[in-house]
Amino acid sequence: MTAALEVKNLSTRFHMVSHTVRAVDDVSFTLGENEILAIAGESGSGKSAAILSLLRLIPPPGEIDPESRVFFEGRDILGIGEKQMNGLRGKRISMIFQEPSASFNPLFTVGSQIAEVLRVHLGLSKAESARRAGEALAQVRIPNAQKRVRDFPFQLSGGMLQRSMIALALACGPRILLADEPTTALDPTTSLRILELLKEKTQGAGMSMIFVTHDLELLSGFADRIMVMYAGRIFESGPAGLMLERPLHPYTQDLLAAIPRPGVFKDSGRLYSIQGRVPAAGSRPSGCAYHPRCRLASPRCAQEEPDLVQKENSFVRCRLYV
Ligand SMILES: Nc1ncnc2c1ncn2[C@@H]1O[C@H](COP(=O)(O)OP(=O)(O)O)[C@@H](O)[C@H]1O
Ligand SMILES: [Mg+2]
Repeated sequence: MTAALEVKNLSTRFHMVSHTVRAVDDVSFTLGENEILAIAGESGSGKSAAILSLLRLIPPPGEIDPESRVFFEGRDILGIGEKQMNGLRGKRISMIFQEPSASFNPLFTVGSQIAEVLRVHLGLSKAESARRAGEALAQVRIPNAQKRVRDFPFQLSGGMLQRSMIALALACGPRILLADEPTTALDPTTSLRILELLKEKTQGAGMSMIFVTHDLELLSGFADRIMVMYAGRIFESGPAGLMLERPLHPYTQDLLAAIPRPGVFKDSGRLYSIQGRVPAAGSRPSGCAYHPRCRLASPRCAQEEPDLVQKENSFVRCRLYV
């Protein structure tokens, strides 16, 4: 597998007044060419911080550890100048943000903002970029796209804005797409269509993608590999089909058991849900961070954090596999 992106020892911390949050803690992985890698985990596990770090979009008091490395096309992009970084952002590596308001300026029409990106990054003429902006909106199934280009962000529904943001991210034909919960605001049918479109882009257009979600259910038949994060750490990573069928880590098992599926309701008729909560920012439990919530925790789990070890084609961080 040739790599589109290689991430080594990525750590990102937020230095708060009273404590430091280790949002991403020594994360290493490779994104293959044409691959869909999903990062999954509950809210607060560090998924957004991880992908924002790849484009150096971490605002103070956040800081990316200087030992972190992100290799793209032969160079460490955490070390390049801001100008070079700006040349990559939105063009070679683009991002769908969790919050649509992070992508669009409320003062300009959606179409003009997509056209602007096409003009700046691809050097297209005004007329050509306006035409392509309409096409980009049509591609994400916005009805009357050639009219909608003249709408301001506030004139679009949440779902349409979300789709416009996806259109913006795809407009320049990026090598890598970083998608942060891109379908959360969409109804199930639109969501499915968007996932199909994204998958098509990775197969036909030579794009690789990191797809962030808290919803493992979306990933069946979509992701190639899944990386499960908890408290800033990788807990499990491996081929998607295998993980969804036979999850190794108790945390992954619990996440999957919490998905509503016909026929798997427990005797009580109630859905299994994970006990306890994600650790509060800045108060990571000792040992394995999941131990206070884990059904299978032993006293040792409170003391030692296991390494990430290989188990057949997957990697897992749990004492059960050491
Ligand atoms: N701008 C920020 N300032 C302080 N803490 C932050 C900031 N962004 C994220 N964090 C903290 O970093 C951790 C990971 O957050 P995040 O990456 O947003 O998680 P996820 O995307 O998995 O929900 C959380 O504890 C969160 O509170
Ligand atoms: Mg997030």
